Amino acid sequence: MKVALGSDHGGYDLKENIKKLLVELKIEHTDFGSGSTSSCDYSDYAIKVAEAVAHKEYERGILVCGTGIGMSIAANKVKGIRAALVTDMFTAKATREHNNSNVLCLGGRITGPQIALEIVKIWLGTEFEGGRHIRRLDKITDYENK
Ligand code: RB5
Repeated sequence: MKVALGSDHGGYDLKENIKKLLVELKIEHTDFGSGSTSSCDYSDYAIKVAEAVAHKEYERGILVCGTGIGMSIAANKVKGIRAALVTDMFTAKATREHNNSNVLCLGGRITGPQIALEIVKIWLGTEFEGGRHIRRLDKITDYENK
């Protein structure tokens, strides 16, 4: 699996922790920036990562800003992206099983690193359930393609 990563200044520190985890797990990844805690615009990084996932250059994306909200709003504007803002382990699993989310959004100022890393592990390791959820997602895709 190839993972695209992005953050703004509010998510930079957590993104660095996530990168260490991906190295440990031997998961191929690319950091699309930002490269520091200097103030920047989350929307730039959300769109870069979301487009890389939508174009199938990466299977999944992980985006971190202060709350995760800006990243999720921006990423979900990109056609084919199902970005989920997650703050707990139950949702990390459910959003893969039910929503087939392809981008995970986290809040670096909201979710502590220990919980965030558990969320990442669960989200990366959980498969989409398919079945009735396909019909529901197809309705979103149909709307996107109108
Ligand atoms: C940056 O201050 C902050 O607005 C951003 O990281 C994020 O929380 C936006 O949703």
